[in-house]
Amino acid sequence: MTARVIDGVKLAATIREGVAARSAALAAHGIKPGLAVVLVGSDPASQVYVRNKVTACEKAGMHSVLEQYPTEMTQEALLARIETLNADPSIHGILVQLPLPKHIDSHRVIEAIAADKDVDGFHISNAGLLMTGTPLFRPCTPYGVMKMLESEQVVLRGAVAVVVGASNIVGKPMAMLLQTAGATVTICNSKTRDLAWHTRHADIVIVATGKPGMVTGDMLKPGAIVIDVGINRGADGKLCGDVDYASAKEVAGAITPVPGGVGPMTIAMLLVNTMEAAERVLARRTTK
Ligand code: GUN
Repeated sequence: MTARVIDGVKLAATIREGVAARSAALAAHGIKPGLAVVLVGSDPASQVYVRNKVTACEKAGMHSVLEQYPTEMTQEALLARIETLNADPSIHGILVQLPLPKHIDSHRVIEAIAADKDVDGFHISNAGLLMTGTPLFRPCTPYGVMKMLESEQVVLRGAVAVVVGASNIVGKPMAMLLQTAGATVTICNSKTRDLAWHTRHADIVIVATGKPGMVTGDMLKPGAIVIDVGINRGADGKLCGDVDYASAKEVAGAITPVPGGVGPMTIAMLLVNTMEAAERVLARRTTK
């Protein structure tokens, strides 16, 4: 069997078209959705990511601001910038790119972002709302994965799902979204004994570990849906995921490629979250 390839580029383009249409509808009410992206430091990968986010915003007819600061920026100065953005009515979403330099406490910074502008969905109150099944913002990568599963018409109710990786950004919120949708979810981590035992029982395997080739075809149940969140630079200089694509695609029923899978979806869902934040501002205005 060769797996269906889930095309993240195509699905993300459709979602972005929907966002552009909603942006035009908001413009009729004098609102232009605005996203502020803040980057501290000069990590080359982060620079590419933030530029892609800002460009995608502009293409969707949204307002965006990219603020770049040197690695030496103090925590106090960053918190002061966030306070200003929290109070700025032209900004509906604030994203501080992670990781931050070591001298800055990222928890403090995330908690400083107004929860109703936290388009990453990382603020503790947004994590709590997600946990209780009433999310305000869904973290972009897991939200994008849910859209991919929906586009494949994967039945989640009663499905066995294994999430490999337990980060706050991907693994934990991913598990919550799947669980809320009725799946039976196991979260595996780097200490999990016999990872293959878990993955071989799963209808859906989602891998977000940052370790190339972590999941191979022999670790999968035939026909499983495989979502690869990893983006790694291989020894040959090419991008690769956390799943060994060549062996996995011979066993899986459907699989996401890297590049061209989850990556474009993360950006599309950031636009959706920013749009939702701006639409809530309009809703608040009209119910006053
Ligand atoms: N770094 C890697 N992924 C993300 C993300 O989704 N949001 C932010 N803010 N930083 C990241």
